Amino acid sequence: MSRLKGLLLAGGHGTRLRPLTYTGNKHMLPIANKPMLMYGFDHLRATGITDIGIVLGPLHEGIKDALGDGSKFHVKITYIDQPDPKGIAHAVLISKDFLENEPFIVYLGDNLLKESIPKLAEEFIASKPDAMVVLARVKDPGRFGVVKIEDGKITKLVEKPKQFVSDYALAGVYFFQPSVFPVIETLRPSGRNELEITEAIQGLLQRGGLITFHEVSGWWKDTGRPEDILEANQLVLRDLKSSMRGKLDEGVSVSGSVEIGEGTHVHKGATIRGPAVIGDNSEIGPGAYVGPYTSIGSYVKILGTEIENSIVLDGSIIDCHDRVVDSIIGRNSQIRSNGTQRPSGRRFVVGESTYVSL
Ligand code: G1P
Repeated sequence: MSRLKGLLLAGGHGTRLRPLTYTGNKHMLPIANKPMLMYGFDHLRATGITDIGIVLGPLHEGIKDALGDGSKFHVKITYIDQPDPKGIAHAVLISKDFLENEPFIVYLGDNLLKESIPKLAEEFIASKPDAMVVLARVKDPGRFGVVKIEDGKITKLVEKPKQFVSDYALAGVYFFQPSVFPVIETLRPSGRNELEITEAIQGLLQRGGLITFHEVSGWWKDTGRPEDILEANQLVLRDLKSSMRGKLDEGVSVSGSVEIGEGTHVHKGATIRGPAVIGDNSEIGPGAYVGPYTSIGSYVKILGTEIENSIVLDGSIIDCHDRVVDSIIGRNSQIRSNGTQRPSGRRFVVGESTYVSL
């Protein structure tokens, strides 16, 4: 398997996730307390790939700090700069030297999949098509690249079709032979001013290339919007295994799969209903409630608050005597209340270092 190289894309501006992406890279947003990018990175590593290129956009803080040169993960990482978001095919093009004429996987760093990438890689290596794509059926194909299949064969690929072509969307994992390069070199920028990988694969098809596909057997999530992030968080938490490393006072009620990190203190009278994950050195105050599908980072305080189906990043404090639902709270933010009203639920997408008073 060693000949296959990995290209992990972490560029782009993450505009649909603002304000969260004003101050940090989208790919480092945590899903079940693990940075999004690490899911793809771990899939590439599990495939036995030891040579991984990471394409970085202008906002890339945290990525190099987390991954370094790859040695602590037993891989070699090469960083490739893509200062302007000119598309997936452009990211592949500027990685040509790194890819050295070898077959490769392109993994979009904002995509999460439950799928055996190692098995797909084996299939790709054994059957040697020009490209192999991963597909998932979707209800809103206009948001993705789609693939038309006739008699079990791909006959057409279209990026974000305005009219219905197919409900098979291209999930963000692609396998290529170097034969894709001459096609990418002929691409022109699309309507959104990007070199589209979907058009490159369509070009390969038109030149008589063999394109195979695999339909996702588990699930797939592109995390373009805040609601996608929350859904990805739910999907990952579904498979959570319980682990307790923190301190739980007597009289704490814990049910379902719950992971609690070191140095975290759950006070008397608090309730945690899983699946939920809480990082290290956090505090769940007396009477607080952490409900299903919630991921709470490290150094967080949840005081006198009920929270459910939400993500709270490191260092934030929620002390609002209220119910917070379906929310994403950026790092080092505070949500406090001094009022006495108790509405039925609040929904937030809060950027970094924000203070909200209710
Ligand atoms: C990109 C691709 C699209 C693919 C999607 C998967 O879309 O262009 O074909 O279906 O990733 O996440 P974008 O996220 O750039 O809108």
